[in-house]
Amino acid sequence: VPVSHIRNFSIIAHIDHGKSTLADRLLLQTKTVSDRDMKAQFLDTMDLERERGITIKLQAARMAYDASDGNQYVLNLIDTPGHVDFSYEVSRSLAACEGALLVVDASQGVEAQTLANVYLALEHDLEIIPVLNKIDLPGAEPDRIKQEIEDIIGLDCGNAILASAKQGIGIDEILEAIVYLVPPPQETVERPLRALIFDSYYDSYRGVIVYFRVMDGTLRRGDRVQLMASGKEYDIDELGVLSPMQIQVEDLHAGEVGYLAASIKAVEDARVGDTITLVKPAAPEPLPGYVEAKPMVFCGLFPTDADQFEDLRDALEKLRLSDAALQYDPETSSAMGFGFRCGFLGLLHMEIVQERLEREYNLDLITTAPSVIYWVTTIDGDVIEIDNPCNLPSPQEREKIEEPYVRIEMLTPEEFVGPLMELSQSRRGDFKDMKYLAQGRTSLVYEIPLAEVVTDFFDQMKSRSRGYASMEYHLVGYRENPLVRLDILINGEPVDPLATIVHRDKAYYVGKALVEKLKELIPRHQFKIPLQAAIGSRVISSESIPALRKDVLSKCYGGDISRKKKLLQKQAKGKKRLKAIGTVDVPQEAFMAVLRL
Ligand code: GTP
Repeated sequence: VPVSHIRNFSIIAHIDHGKSTLADRLLLQTKTVSDRDMKAQFLDTMDLERERGITIKLQAARMAYDASDGNQYVLNLIDTPGHVDFSYEVSRSLAACEGALLVVDASQGVEAQTLANVYLALEHDLEIIPVLNKIDLPGAEPDRIKQEIEDIIGLDCGNAILASAKQGIGIDEILEAIVYLVPPPQETVERPLRALIFDSYYDSYRGVIVYFRVMDGTLRRGDRVQLMASGKEYDIDELGVLSPMQIQVEDLHAGEVGYLAASIKAVEDARVGDTITLVKPAAPEPLPGYVEAKPMVFCGLFPTDADQFEDLRDALEKLRLSDAALQYDPETSSAMGFGFRCGFLGLLHMEIVQERLEREYNLDLITTAPSVIYWVTTIDGDVIEIDNPCNLPSPQEREKIEEPYVRIEMLTPEEFVGPLMELSQSRRGDFKDMKYLAQGRTSLVYEIPLAEVVTDFFDQMKSRSRGYASMEYHLVGYRENPLVRLDILINGEPVDPLATIVHRDKAYYVGKALVEKLKELIPRHQFKIPLQAAIGSRVISSESIPALRKDVLSKCYGGDISRKKKLLQKQAKGKKRLKAIGTVDVPQEAFMAVLRL
């Protein structure tokens, strides 16, 4: 295919605005996929994604389109994940494109994450085509939303396309706009090979399958290639395009999008953002923008049943083959026994991994509350990274603690500005900016400790704005704060996975709320259980769980067998997620109590 007949584009959209539905439509319209083969939401392959209705991993599809000018074009759609945890992957897939469809729900308008991704696209000089989706809905207000896009993004909406992905309206217009508005790739086939990896996944037969865009030069089957960041070398066993099923080809030239297999053992050897070049001749420079995705959120994972420790290790090893951003190290806790300290890109990533471990590997896990990475300067002047509150050096051994801050932008209707400011301030946020963007859209910007965001910030934002506000955040750096470690003692014993790092001024409040919450969450036992919150040796709050007086069954008078059975079943179910700490059974929810104060 001549470069002039290639168009590479992605779709930028907020969750639920219809990206997957539109992608399906484009595949159908171009007969890339037949109606019969079209399962709902073709591009979202993972079950989990389908269930949650969100796009986690990005993929690609190549379509052949007969345009009205009589020529056939190759359109490569590169899908992007719609969540802030994966914004680095979004940036790499945008770097592989010359254009993007900006899909906005015509009954909803622009959301914070969309805005962040549009700015990324503009940074990469992409041609952006606004598409107002869901115009079939009675509540659709395309004119108002067009104005909103113009006001907020400054994008000309004169040619915005009105569409309904669901009913198939505007699909031809979108395909034509891609051909006429998105520029073709540059003619750089004469240069040494450089291909940008924008996604990869692990296949147990062929090894890692790498998705890439050839930026310069040509890649052929059998070529010996080098990955410039990882430094590894491979022979290409298989080369192909995604239509969207894998179809093998002999070579791919600058401008094209495809996949390769080269017996690569783990995705960390072929990371998103890395540059593929030939061993000979090698490109002098890699493509710009490579960053090793670093975990930002950490938690402990412990099997409820100590016998499952090895199974958990195997499962993490397997997951890691397909998820380079997942980190894990063995951890021993006096209270919990053997487990792992795991690092994730963000909360969603954390939830996905936990769910996969439990569902695909059949493990019963206790998860401890998420923590961030603190920088601690010791009195010797060393700076150490602490991702687990129980490893925090004592006040005598440390000089200062710094914690990560994020810049958070919320878009909200005016009426919720007050409640959201209150929320941000209560989470130690520093107010930075407030702007009226358009009717129903005020932007609120705060700089706020990441530790305060990884708790229930998102849920609180949603509930305080009745679901209308949206947010986006990114790391801005580390700042010193007077932080202390708050320990929790159950039955007189410190329980390390319940330890948290909190601001000194909030310690008393958090300690009190935490023991009160634990009192609710930990079931009664045959004996009285004291609960305490302490900073160092100073107890700042205490409560106790009274002893159990009657056994459960005594409530069932006489011989109501079925009721007894039900109660016992209920108990057995509850038992699954208990961890015995000393003589006290602590339920999973208790380890997350700090998130729900
Ligand atoms: P993520 O995968 O989370 O990014 O969501 P998405 O943007 O891909 O949204 P998806 O295509 O899954 O659509 C979300 C919901 O909106 C689904 O219930 C669709 O059926 C519905 N939907 C999509 N397009 C239209 C449309 O044009 N009109 C109407 N009425 N509903 C639509």
